[in-house]
Amino acid sequence: MLAPGDKSISHRALLFGALGTRPMQVRNLAPGADVRSTAACLRALGVKVAEAEGPGAVAVRGVGPGGFTSPSGPLDCGNSGTTMRLLLGLVAGAGVSCTLDGDASLRGRPMRRVLAPLRAMGARMEGQGGPEDERAPLRVEPAPRLQGMSHRLPIASAQVKSALVLAGLAAEGETRVREPEPSRDHTERMLAAWGAPVRVEGGEVVATRLMGPLVLPEALEVPGDPSSAAFWVGAGLLVPGARVVVRGVDVNPTRTGFLAVLGRMGARVEEEPETARAGDPVATLRVRGGQPLRGTEIRPAEVPSLLDEIPLLAVVASQATGETRVTGARELRVKESDRLRQLVLGLRAMGADVDELDDGFVLRGPTKLHAASIDAAHDHRIAMSFAIAGLVADGETEVEGAEWADISYPGFFPALREASGSVS
Ligand code: S3P
Repeated sequence: MLAPGDKSISHRALLFGALGTRPMQVRNLAPGADVRSTAACLRALGVKVAEAEGPGAVAVRGVGPGGFTSPSGPLDCGNSGTTMRLLLGLVAGAGVSCTLDGDASLRGRPMRRVLAPLRAMGARMEGQGGPEDERAPLRVEPAPRLQGMSHRLPIASAQVKSALVLAGLAAEGETRVREPEPSRDHTERMLAAWGAPVRVEGGEVVATRLMGPLVLPEALEVPGDPSSAAFWVGAGLLVPGARVVVRGVDVNPTRTGFLAVLGRMGARVEEEPETARAGDPVATLRVRGGQPLRGTEIRPAEVPSLLDEIPLLAVVASQATGETRVTGARELRVKESDRLRQLVLGLRAMGADVDELDDGFVLRGPTKLHAASIDAAHDHRIAMSFAIAGLVADGETEVEGAEWADISYPGFFPALREASGSVS
């Protein structure tokens, strides 16, 4: 099994590629609809993103800082929060007028967390809605030069951090971003590697004005997505007699909290190092099925390192002995769906003993799951997590809206069918 290209790194390769001017070839780009949304928005801003030869290969030709043109219509970010929030940072000081919009799910997601700090730097942008939050469609107008400032994020968020750092590249003076816990660090690593004035200092990311185009590599090989690989690791652990090998997985420590949690649950996941890619460590992961698992506690400080893997971890925990408790994960309520709600509803429908908390859940296992009809709730990670639950349930589990997997992993269901022989 080969993990598809990492979604977070793929978005950033395209967005940051826009700030260079020499051609860059990106290989193994994430195949899902989210990254295609980023590519389409960038094209509308004047950046060249074209398909190239080879698996997941695209050729990017950026416009450099200040080179964007105002698009003729709205920028459609589709289902992708990363596209919308990072683009806001990119266009905040770029002197363009544009409207950012998305599908019904994205139109329901909170945007003031990005709009308010960007406005504090001088950006001119606003969303729809009342005093409690702002939502897409979002209108952006050209602003006089942005001013750098110190931001203290109330909630760890790689998307918000990245937006502020990108705006900082167009701002006078220093832009500083501090988070309560560290979130994924691809933005600061990739930008610094490509010559941007971005550094990490005492837990803060510091950015100053970018005076010329980024120095892009000629080619960038995107490592495999740990969030996609996690489904195979979970399947491998739960199916007795299974042997699963996933190659090429990004194991950047800001992304691999799920491996630490599985280790605490008693799972043995072998990690064999491969050559680093895009500045990140990469490994082959190997698991064997039928290992005894025990429940564990996932604490708030750990949540950012496994944010997107919580649905899958919940499914695994339903097969572990004892209690699994997750707290500090309220953010899951404002992802592509209310993931805490959907998880609890789906697991309960399959017979699991689980209680919903305001910011997490408590689950007592193990339970022999039984088949149910599960609503993917237009959420790719819910669809894939319950497909894995279906592998260990009695009878035939139906995932309604399984096609939402295409958002991050279009090859998931075909690969699952091939690997398990029990998916139709
Ligand atoms: C992402 C950050 C995370 C994650 C999302 C991708 C990114 O969101 O859930 O799938 O690429 O920056 P946060 O902004 O909550 O960290």
